[in-house]
Amino acid sequence: MMLVVVATGCSRTSDPKTQPATTPPPQPRVIAATACTTTACTKIARRFINDAGTVVGEGARIQDNVVLGKPVVLGARSSAPRDRLDPLVVGEGATVCAGAVVLAGARIGARAVVGDQAHVRERAEIGEETVVGRGSAIDNDVRIGARVRIQSGCYITAYTTIEDDVFVAPCVTTTHAHTMSRHGPDGPIVGATLRRACRVGAGAVLLPGIEVGEEAFVAAGAVVTKDVPARAVVVGVPARQIREVPDEDLIERWV
Ligand SMILES: CC(C)(COP(=O)(O)OP(=O)(O)OC[C@H]1O[C@@H](n2cnc3c(N)ncnc32)[C@H](O)[C@@H]1OP(=O)(O)O)[C@@H](O)C(=O)NCCC(=O)NCCS
Repeated sequence: MMLVVVATGCSRTSDPKTQPATTPPPQPRVIAATACTTTACTKIARRFINDAGTVVGEGARIQDNVVLGKPVVLGARSSAPRDRLDPLVVGEGATVCAGAVVLAGARIGARAVVGDQAHVRERAEIGEETVVGRGSAIDNDVRIGARVRIQSGCYITAYTTIEDDVFVAPCVTTTHAHTMSRHGPDGPIVGATLRRACRVGAGAVLLPGIEVGEEAFVAAGAVVTKDVPARAVVVGVPARQIREVPDEDLIERWV
């Protein structure tokens, strides 16, 4: 069963005596807990929500100071799409931890976890049972599959694709534009592609458009300038292949 949130905390009286002299800035609204009877609903009481229509699945847990369905704010020069956003969807049994901000248009899969103070932007999709670590930033239009583990402090840039069972270690940085904003409206902006069950070590940097192959291993601190073949282990700056991932390390041994 899904709960559709109707934000009601901002209603104004029509009595002119009680109207403020100036229009106050929009306030975050609080879910109308008293109207709710589901488990999901009682657990989201007193959490802020900026967008009516946000859908919260049965059994989802929304911790303190979470903002759900926040409207996107784009800089004047941003090239991100400005289309109208669908409501945020938080899947059944998912957890959005303290202080996280999840924008309208995002989709959080069933039993996924969005860690403390993480940020998930518009149209990002996070798959079932995937974990986004503390303080990680998931940009707009990112696609993340199931059972992915993204640890603390990562930056997953716009238009990145992360397939199922990928491991992203702390402080990994992905990038999407070599020209650092000096490009026309049509790009080039191209995120990373992390194929199924690959692993990216702590602090690694992936240059724009890099593909890391299935079951590949990027060592800690590597700067990846070329695509990484499936099962390759790459190390260093720039990253070079030193061997292959052995059979005993493949994911089917570890699930
Ligand atoms: C790749 C890795 C597994 C080490 O592989 P290894 O084969 O055991 O490497 P060794 O320790 O035997 O070192 C072999 C050589 O590579 C060098 N080396 C090892 N790791 C390196 C790295 N990440 N970057 C650059 N050089 C590295 C070593 O200095 C050594 O060089 P030398 O032969 O000149 O002395 C390790 O560096 C790594 O990235 N681990 C992942 C850690 C991580 O991010 N975990 C995330 C969860 S917290």
